[in-house]
Amino acid sequence: MDENLKRYILNIPKAELHVHIEGTLEPELLFEIAKRNNIELKHASIEELKQSYEFNNLQEFLNIYYAGAKVLLHEQDFYDLAMAYLKRAHEDNVVHAEIFFDPQTHTNRGISFETVINGLVRAQKDAREQYEISSALIMCFLRHLSEESAFETLEMAIPHKDKIIGIGLDSSEEGNPPSKFFNVFGKVRDHGFFVVAHAGEEGPAENVWEAIELLEAERIDHGVASIDDELLLEKLRDSEIPLTVCPLSNLKLKVFDDLSEVPIKKFLDNDIIVTINSDDPPYFGGYINENFLQAAQALNLTREDIFKLAQNSFKAAYIPETERQTMIDRLEEFDKKFE
Ligand code: HPA
Ligand code: ZN
Repeated sequence: MDENLKRYILNIPKAELHVHIEGTLEPELLFEIAKRNNIELKHASIEELKQSYEFNNLQEFLNIYYAGAKVLLHEQDFYDLAMAYLKRAHEDNVVHAEIFFDPQTHTNRGISFETVINGLVRAQKDAREQYEISSALIMCFLRHLSEESAFETLEMAIPHKDKIIGIGLDSSEEGNPPSKFFNVFGKVRDHGFFVVAHAGEEGPAENVWEAIELLEAERIDHGVASIDDELLLEKLRDSEIPLTVCPLSNLKLKVFDDLSEVPIKKFLDNDIIVTINSDDPPYFGGYINENFLQAAQALNLTREDIFKLAQNSFKAAYIPETERQTMIDRLEEFDKKFE
């Protein structure tokens, strides 16, 4: 790749809008936390664990991702996890991150909702001071679990409403369409949360329609299947519903055989607010800049495309207009001064 374009990608200020905090657990930190919590691991070494990170589909990844999250027991573990991610994201010039967390992965093991959220929030505050990175939390319901369990999780979240900007839907898409969560998202909206949903990752464009029309999702996570549906592309463009695409995730989970097939360029050409994100970086082989670099290489993205993608990340962020303008000003300043 052209060295100038590489430098542009690495340094451009950006927002990350699709990252699962449990999916940022680096093997080294996983081993460290397991050791201090006296948890025995299936893998004998960090190397051996890393070698298990080969997936044929979303479910194979999820099995390993949920197993990894079992080392997280105490508030400090959640703090260390989030702090490590925010530090790493700052190194990639992420100035704002909207972070998913999956409370059911923890509450179903007897960890309290408070343990999880207190650790995450403390890291958000410290990271803002130390790295000047702003961040927000989006709670996700695990879609392989029941809608009743989602209702219970929402109840746990209500006392912490001020710490959570939005609610999403993640985990196994196959057999668990957005319609399964129609009722609970009604309640989510009554509480005024921002609504997002994973849809059209492994599943069809129909799931993106359901997320928009039934759940009233305001941003779609992945959504790559939308490329198959002309009417949906029109809908995404006209309603300005952004997509948070994760190219290395799509590659590692075999959603596409090659990065050149990830339709980022096509979404850009269709004037859709598409963004690039990392999803679960240690599992998929790279943080946000690596996603930008590899996507740029595979798709022949230009400096203008990269600018647009970074600009889209701020357009798609769930932040007050004044903050959005400050971030976009900073982006434009960067672009103007870059040589
Ligand atoms: N898809 C669905 N659920 C997830 C993912 C994903 O890519 N990552 C973590 N949970
Ligand atoms: Zn995801």
